[in-house]
Formats: sequence, C-alpha cells, structure tokens
Amino acid sequence: MTGPTTNFPAVATTEEEVSTADQRPDADAAGALYRYEGAPVPLPKNQGHFVLRFWRSAVGKKWVMAVSGIVLLGYVLAHMLGNLKVFLGSEQINRYAEWLRDLGEPAFPRSVVLWGMRVVLIAAFVFHIVAAAQLSRMNHRARPVKYQSPRDYAAANFASRTMRWTGIIIALFVVFHLLDLTWGTANPDFHRGDVYDNVFNSFERVPVAIAYIAAMIALSIHIFHGAWAMFNSLGINNPKYNEWKRVFAGGFALVILVGNVSMPLLIVTGAVTR
Ligand code: HEM
Repeated sequence: MTGPTTNFPAVATTEEEVSTADQRPDADAAGALYRYEGAPVPLPKNQGHFVLRFWRSAVGKKWVMAVSGIVLLGYVLAHMLGNLKVFLGSEQINRYAEWLRDLGEPAFPRSVVLWGMRVVLIAAFVFHIVAAAQLSRMNHRARPVKYQSPRDYAAANFASRTMRWTGIIIALFVVFHLLDLTWGTANPDFHRGDVYDNVFNSFERVPVAIAYIAAMIALSIHIFHGAWAMFNSLGINNPKYNEWKRVFAGGFALVILVGNVSMPLLIVTGAVTR
C-alpha cells in the first residue's frame, strides 16, 4: 500500500463527504486505501451568487436575523413612544396618528411614506421568521438525535430556550392586534381614525387587557435574549463587552415591558380614565 493521493480532501468535512467516505474509489471492499489512479475528481464548487451563498449559510441567516431584529426593535420602541401619548389625551394621540399618515407631504402623496415604512417592517418581519425557521432546521439536521443526557443549561437561560415560543406568541399577538386596533374587526366599538377611543374601548375589556399584558411579557423576554444574541450574530462577541450587552438587552426589554404594559394595566384597572 502507498500513501494517500491528492485527488481527495484528506479529511471528510461535510455531512455528504462523511456519508460517502466508504464509497471512495481509492478504497477496496474492506475499506483499505490504495493509490487512486483514475481521472481527477473535481471538488464541489461554490454555486450561485455570493448573496445567495451568504443567505444559505448559517452565518448569513444570523446576520439577517440580527439586521431584521434591529429594524423590529426600532419599530417597537418608536411605536411604544407614540402610543404613550394616549396618556396625554385624545387630541394628542389622534393628531400624532394623523401626522404619521401625512408624513412626507407635500413631497409625497398622503400615506406613501407610511406605506414605505410598512413595506420595510413587513420585509423585516418575514425575513426574521424565515431565517429563524431555517436556522432551527439546520441545527436540527446537525443533531437529529436529541441529547441523551440532561442538557447543561449553564450557557442557555430561560429566555434563550423559549425564543421559539415567545416568537410564536408575538406573531399571534400581531395578528390579533391588527384585527383589534387597525382593522377593527375584533373590536366591537371601533371607529376608524379615533385611535384614542379605540385603545380605551379595547383595554377596558378585561380579557383583552390580560391578553395584551401576557403578550408584552412574552415580547420582553424575546427582546431580552434577542438583543443580546444580535451582537454575537454580528460578530461582537468579545467577553469584554458582555456587561454592556447585558445592560443594553436588559434595559431595552425593561423599557418595552414597563411602557407597553402600563397602557392596558392602567386603563383596565381604571387608574387612567378618558
Ligand atoms: C400596549 C401596547 C400597544 C398599543 C397601545 C398599540 C396601539 C396601536 C394602535 C392604536 C395602532 C393603530 C394605529 C393607527 O391606525 O393609526 C397600532 C398598529 C400597529 N401595531 Fe400596535 N400597539 C401596541 C403594541 C404593539 C406591539 C408590541 C407591536 C409589535 C410587536 C405592534 C405592532 C403594530 C403594527 C404592526 C401596527 C400596524 C401599523 C400600521 O398601520 O402601519 N403594536 N398599534
């Protein structure tokens, strides 16, 4: 027997290479290697545009999750700050909602800028969910058999382990929320254009207020881990920044929790009335 040839990668590195290792043409029936003297076997080439290859890779999907996550975080914060005007009275919040529709006028026709922002938001939402689902499938394929011993959760806290479930709750919440406060289908006393009354009509009903509060808790848990993971996905994972990352993720989640829960809570308990 002679040494290995150069026509094959020395070490099987991909799943496919590992599974076809026993079919190598330079191995005999018993699997022993001999010098391969056939035609050179081409190595698989990278296929497709680099953007597509990036999207297909785990690193690419993590980037997409992080960048779309930043857009969503920005929206959630801006939306909350706008909604808190409900405590300033009907005139303030209704004028703000009108201003959003007029944004960009007269350079753009009414609602065009708002629709532009909606398109970006919808795209971020879709990319975030698709990348998460595909990453989870890739992880599952890499470890199809469950851990045989109890998992060591030292590096995974409650928030990180529940990302899928808090994510599903948020998606269901958004559907209900649009039916409730944008289209009015789920809100019996909905009046188009009267944001102030719509919010009160909604939050004065106990089951609705409870649903909002529960969803906001899920959202904050999701943000707590997501805002932390976002830095790692973008390559900012030097341990010297850990403290800052923790403060940012925890602070952001807390602000969103307090701000968003205050509205249904203070209205349903009658602490704030119209
Ligand atoms: C207590 C918390 C919240 C309140 C009081 C609230 C209130 C509202 C109101 C009044 C509208 C309709 C605005 C209008 O028609 O002018 C709206 C729309 C919307 N909300 Fe919320 N919201 C809350 C939390 C959230 C959260 C956490 C999310 C996302 C996770 C969200 C996502 C949306 C979306 C996507 C729309 C549609 C925006 C559009 O028409 O372009 N909301 N919200």
